[in-house]
Amino acid sequence: MAERETWTTRVGFIFAAVGSAVGLGNIWSFPFQTGQNGGAAFLLVYLAVVFVIGFPAMLMEFVIGRRSKQNPISAFRELGFENWSFAGTLGVLGSAVTLAFYSVIGGWVLSYIVGSATGTYFGNVAGFFGTVSAGPLAVGTHALFMGLTVAIVAFGIQGGIERATKVMVPAILVLLLGLAAWGFTLEGATAGYEYYLSPDFGYLADNLTSIVPSAVGQAFFTLSLGFSVMIAYASYLGSDDSLPADGSAIVVINTLVALLAGFVVFPVLLSIGVEPGSGGVGTAFVSLAGAFAQIPGGELLGVGFFIVLLLAALSSAISLLETPVSYVVDNYDYDRKVVATVLGGTIFAAGIPTALSTATLGWYNDIVFNLLLPLVVLLFALFVGWVAFDESVDELAQGSSLGTGFTALWLWWVRLVIPAAIGLTLVLGVQDLALKAQLIESAVVLG
Ligand code: TRP
Repeated sequence: MAERETWTTRVGFIFAAVGSAVGLGNIWSFPFQTGQNGGAAFLLVYLAVVFVIGFPAMLMEFVIGRRSKQNPISAFRELGFENWSFAGTLGVLGSAVTLAFYSVIGGWVLSYIVGSATGTYFGNVAGFFGTVSAGPLAVGTHALFMGLTVAIVAFGIQGGIERATKVMVPAILVLLLGLAAWGFTLEGATAGYEYYLSPDFGYLADNLTSIVPSAVGQAFFTLSLGFSVMIAYASYLGSDDSLPADGSAIVVINTLVALLAGFVVFPVLLSIGVEPGSGGVGTAFVSLAGAFAQIPGGELLGVGFFIVLLLAALSSAISLLETPVSYVVDNYDYDRKVVATVLGGTIFAAGIPTALSTATLGWYNDIVFNLLLPLVVLLFALFVGWVAFDESVDELAQGSSLGTGFTALWLWWVRLVIPAAIGLTLVLGVQDLALKAQLIESAVVLG
């Protein structure tokens, strides 16, 4: 058998992982979750969760991937615990469910590229979002986005996209930085920063039970955890790489992109008179469009920005489709093109309801954030912490200079802190879902 490929450079791995991590989660979901959960109060909890839970959880997937050098499902068998393969399977399913609605939002980005070029939204940013986000047009752009994703995965040309991320991530950072600087000059800037950065502790205390599950879900989603992407990527790593060093680089870059998006979105929202909590799934799109509508040369800037966002979304979407496709190709020996097309088509169909109603999209989103993601990460934590812990600790130490104190701390963190935090999240998250369902029911009765 041929020797398994490895990343040619350490930077290659970091870029691929960043390409998967940086996406709609940073630009679309982060401002939306922040707006829905009271601004700075959410930001505070979110940042804590990213570093205290997200980072050590990423190391769990790295360890499973690099130790086994296998795809996420065979990984558990390779490590000698075949009955844990269901955790990998659940992750693969989760990535399919996520892609179903992720592709719809990718379709919105396509509409915004055209809308920027023609200036269509310049007079009516909220109306434009309504037109492109749900209905026949949204189904069409969802098909187009999924078609692009399938084509890339079918031909196995992810390498090209991954090379593009080397340009894409710096480009996103520069564009966001420029937009944030412009946002600073706006009349609503002060109110925007206040909302984004100055936590209302009373609000935080009152709403902790809904803020925590949203923050945990958002952290896992944006870091591409749970759906085995990081297991797959780490399986190509050489053993002289330091997992904690690579992981922290990925976490920091990804967090920076999201933070900057907030510095654009909130000043703009408060300047155009949109209450940040009222934007829902349209929060980021409406405010970015609002910015381009005001900036001189906004057409060109808008086209540039949304093209970069499209690349970011595509590089995440291909990692979501690649997981199920490579699973089927590896295990059943079907043709890659056929598998990518059939799976892509099925996932497209599953996403159609979310292209017809933003409320349905919100449900898919909540189910992934509050339920699927925490559940899979919890299983990974139990596996790494209590089942394959000898191998895991040994693997984490390989190539790292942090010493046994760090690995021991990490092990106990994975054993106790992460499961406790996720357990709490799951209870609260399910409660939150039930509450929302109830609210809808009573609204139906009243309305
Ligand atoms: N992290 C991506 C984003 O923020 C989305 C994503 C890609 C993802 N691959 C994933 C989320 C795997 C969870 C698991 O846009």
